[in-house]
Amino acid sequence: MKILLLGGGGREHALAWKIAQSEKVEKLFIAPGNAGTQNVGENVDIKADDFEALKNFAVENAVDMVIVGPEDPLVKGVYDDFKNDPRTHNIPVIGPSKAGAVLEGSKDFAKQFMKRHNIPTAQYETFDGEHVEEGLKFLETLKAPYVLKADGLCAGKGVLILPTLEEAKKEFKEMLGGMFGNASARVVIEEFLSGIECSVFVLTDGKNYKILPEAKDYKRIGEHDTGLNTGGMGSVTPVPFATKEWMQKVEDHIIRPTVEGLAEENIDYKGFIFFGLINVEGEPMVIEYNCRMGDPETESVMLRLKSDIVDLFEGVAEGNLDQRAIEFDERAAVCVMLVSGGYPEAYKKGYPIEGIDQVEGSVVFHSGTAMKDGQVVTNGGRVICVSSYGKDKEEALKKSFAEAQKIQFTDKYFRSDIGQDL
Ligand code: AMP
Ligand code: GLY
Repeated sequence: MKILLLGGGGREHALAWKIAQSEKVEKLFIAPGNAGTQNVGENVDIKADDFEALKNFAVENAVDMVIVGPEDPLVKGVYDDFKNDPRTHNIPVIGPSKAGAVLEGSKDFAKQFMKRHNIPTAQYETFDGEHVEEGLKFLETLKAPYVLKADGLCAGKGVLILPTLEEAKKEFKEMLGGMFGNASARVVIEEFLSGIECSVFVLTDGKNYKILPEAKDYKRIGEHDTGLNTGGMGSVTPVPFATKEWMQKVEDHIIRPTVEGLAEENIDYKGFIFFGLINVEGEPMVIEYNCRMGDPETESVMLRLKSDIVDLFEGVAEGNLDQRAIEFDERAAVCVMLVSGGYPEAYKKGYPIEGIDQVEGSVVFHSGTAMKDGQVVTNGGRVICVSSYGKDKEEALKKSFAEAQKIQFTDKYFRSDIGQDL
């Protein structure tokens, strides 16, 4: 098969690494990819949301399947665009339709969906600029801290958690006033939930589903979860509190009602669902849905998937995922992200990265890298991640931290406390 993977971050390098191991794959293209993906496939210089160029490329190169890494092309409707074009309608796209991607693209839609299907989540109300007073009144009925969410996509920045009612009221008005542009034209106000978070991933063909290993990611820049939010500084799988009993609750109360709910509402969904969960006194509740895999969770989860991922994708495309086997590695897997100094605020790009070839026994996934005059250079905030196996997370983390020392670039930073809270 010829496969075209969309995206160019660490998640896509990890997916590409796994796809390239499949005997079914004759050729793997990554658009646009990064300096790492070119080692497992062929990078194509097309942006992941340039649908016309992607379709032309797919037709000219007889691509058999498209796999979508990031949310942006999904929310913009890449699935529908391929499906509605007679030239490409026979090429399966792994990823939900535009209507399905709304689970991530609109927080209000996601909350309404959960309410309709009795899926446990924080209580909430949504307000627009015409209902500011009602919103302020609703805030008064809640206890601190206060959770405000821009309805639309904000590259992970659209959630504010405020310690006092005064701040919450002020920020609520500013969000509706255009703090995140059109994305905050509507704001979800919700009850604060207290607990540890966990990411659960499902691959579905719209009817059947397979649950992948769960993972925990580390979003804050500083040690012990301090400082600004980032795209994610590392991940760990398995998660100790996600016991068999807990995962059974997740499947019964959250996963199955979600997949059945999508089918009932005739929403075409063939791809990954990422459940951002929180463990509230032993009960899993949904914080958010994403319509794709997590980053950097993919960089640890892919290590634990033993089965051929392309076989699973074929099951998704053909609607017979129930007939495909899925097996996991019993070992723990972790990833530690090396980032540019200054990130998630301003940082410099273009520094040479040395020592990648010195890494032994771990897997290096590129996140924000590029090639410049034959040299791998930094090209983003999150630069590269080091993924390792271990008999337990401690052993895997020790390995990743040791190997991470071998990779050098100016102003390199990483969190050395990944996994310690578990
Ligand atoms: P989201 O983009 O919805 O995942 O929110 C970003 C982060 O805000 C989450 O990962 C949580 O850490 C936090 N968060 C969101 N909603 C809530 C909530 N209702 N209660 C507590 N924390 C929350
Ligand atoms: N790791 C969180 C995300 O991918 O959104």
